[in-house]
Amino acid sequence: MGGFAVVGLQWGDEGKGKITDYFAEKADCVVRYQGGNNAGHTIVAGGKEYKFHLMPSGVVQGKKVVIGNGVVVDPTVLIDEIEELRSNGMEPDLMVSDRAHVIMPYHRMLDGAEESLLGNKKVGTTKRGIGPCYSDKVARHGIRMGDLLEREALAEKMERIMPIQDKILGIYDMKVDPEGIMEEYLSYGERLRKYVDDTIYYLNSIIDEKAVLFEGAQGFLLDIDYGTYPYVTSSNPVAGGICTGAGISPKKIEKIVGVSKAYTTRVGMGPMPTEEKGEVGDYLAKRGHEFGTTTGRKRRCGWLDMVALKYACMVNGVDSIAITKLDVLDGLEEVKVCVAYEYEGKTLDRFPSSIKILEKCKPVYETLDGWDGSKGVRDYTALPPNARKYVEYISEKLGVEVEIISTGPAREDTIVAGS
Ligand code: IMP
Repeated sequence: MGGFAVVGLQWGDEGKGKITDYFAEKADCVVRYQGGNNAGHTIVAGGKEYKFHLMPSGVVQGKKVVIGNGVVVDPTVLIDEIEELRSNGMEPDLMVSDRAHVIMPYHRMLDGAEESLLGNKKVGTTKRGIGPCYSDKVARHGIRMGDLLEREALAEKMERIMPIQDKILGIYDMKVDPEGIMEEYLSYGERLRKYVDDTIYYLNSIIDEKAVLFEGAQGFLLDIDYGTYPYVTSSNPVAGGICTGAGISPKKIEKIVGVSKAYTTRVGMGPMPTEEKGEVGDYLAKRGHEFGTTTGRKRRCGWLDMVALKYACMVNGVDSIAITKLDVLDGLEEVKVCVAYEYEGKTLDRFPSSIKILEKCKPVYETLDGWDGSKGVRDYTALPPNARKYVEYISEKLGVEVEIISTGPAREDTIVAGS
């Protein structure tokens, strides 16, 4: 058995939820290793639609789910998600790392305040307090889930860090009531006590015998190290993040599946070389229902960017890819694919680290013939020939096998290679 992973290769929202759900069926345990409730996925089960932000996939299938040490947890959100499951007659088989950091009210406040101060240079965060919580973790001013279980430990930590938080909040003319926060968060600790545990020993005790699926929350291009910094999230969705975010050796991850849409989308600010602001962008947004699960914001849309995708495949070391939303491209006369960037008269085939350069990169496109009628197709040979050519083109350019193609939102609208 061992570990396998599903990671997003673009700017998030690749449709990982559906692919993870597919793999979750084969898994014994599903693990989140980074991010927090900035993520969002919708699951339809038993005729009911669930929108989860923190709960790992597989929970409605009754799988063991684990929130690893690399995740930042807003207990209010976690409690709501547990309650939603319970009100539908499900008790989650959940374990939350005692080392996972807690999103405190002042993290949410600071996220909003920093974004306002940045004005039109803002990151466009989800304002869930993710960045400030990770900042405190690294600065060693954080509160961890385990601290919520012990009054004395929490009191000691808060006494240590509140003078610093007070000063920081003061910059923005904001204040909090530490006593009130402490009581509130101790009560969350009580409600979550039965789930909080040492997930690292647990995961290492099962990983050789059980199928453990690690699900990335945000996409690779939002990774704090590899993405379009500073227009990124504050964690490491990259496959390597599994090791630090769940306490798993790289030797234990046996398979990595990367997920990419058949085109590109991005929410929030930051460069996106293939963005289409006109008709094509609107066509993709409308057909792809490109509005965020977490914030409802309209996503920016454009053609597939192979420079970015190759970079993502390389760093994640993907074994295969899943292409989602192929059907969204139905009805277009031609489909473009960005194969290089043009920058100041030079052709670049590498994804630059500087966003100043990336902002000025013009996509170099190859054009393929379009198709119609891929929606809902469940068999590869039944796909329109040009849609097949598109898939084969992507696979060849990336040098990676396409394992899954999604042709619609329903679980059944899925083509699996070799099945
Ligand atoms: P944060 O993660 O809330 O700090 O936001 C940082 C950036 O990541 C913003 O551009 C967000 O729009 C983006 N982001 C965070 N989570 C997601 C996600 O799940 N899907 C897509 N974009 C996301």
